[in-house]
Amino acid sequence: MLWILDGMDHTHTTEVDAPASELWDAKYLERERIWSGAPNLVLVEETADLQPGTALELGAGEGADAIWLAKKGWQVTAVDVSAVALGRAAQHATDEGVADRIGWEQMDLAAEFPEGEFDLVSAHYFHSHGELPREQILGSAADAVAVGGVLLVVGHAGPPSWVTDHDHGDLPTPTEVYEGLRPRDGEWEILSCRELQVPMTAPDGSAGARSDNVLKIRRLVPAEQKRT
Ligand SMILES: C[S@@+](CC[C@H](N)C(=O)[O-])C[C@H]1O[C@@H](n2cnc3c(N)ncnc32)[C@H](O)[C@@H]1O
Repeated sequence: MLWILDGMDHTHTTEVDAPASELWDAKYLERERIWSGAPNLVLVEETADLQPGTALELGAGEGADAIWLAKKGWQVTAVDVSAVALGRAAQHATDEGVADRIGWEQMDLAAEFPEGEFDLVSAHYFHSHGELPREQILGSAADAVAVGGVLLVVGHAGPPSWVTDHDHGDLPTPTEVYEGLRPRDGEWEILSCRELQVPMTAPDGSAGARSDNVLKIRRLVPAEQKRT
């Protein structure tokens, strides 16, 4: 089982071997809002130098990143397995006046993947407390990047500093994320492959941190053969 390392109480009420849609709908139904509503900082920083075009957002949750991209001029396809999350996301997009720039798709990415190519494919904290073939899905994400386009994967590299009993097995380094894409020679330009420390407040109020990883790569040549 993988924790979601955002410092919140993630006691799960649904069996982790339930279908992903059930698992995540139950998670979202625990509260009116799970995430902050603010875009992920690394997304903001790492897309500042990109020309807006088409974007695919994986595990879009309540939509903050997709909405931020849409406001910056991107035409976004935002995918999540949870209909509950996407319902909230669509309402937020309407409230923010960018509903016409985002298509919301409810999909289990373990079983299917959106058609087409995109100038930006982004996945932020695409982790799950249930089964998730993350490497396989990120492989499909890489195949969906148009030539000249960018793949941006941001994830947890380790648990928060106050968590001592976590099995790190599910949390690859940025290099392992890259190697998991099975890149061919000359296929990608590596723009960023790094770990960063994110300051956090521990449950007891003390200062803590967690380690995240960032992989940002630009496609130089077409994908050889699409993975499903
Ligand atoms: C940890 S949350 C991250 C949400 C958002 N990207 C963010 O940074 O706040 C992971 C998201 O992935 C979604 N997800 C998990 N498994 C999935 C799957 N198999 N197919 C599509 N989405 C999935 C969940 O519903 C959830 O919204």
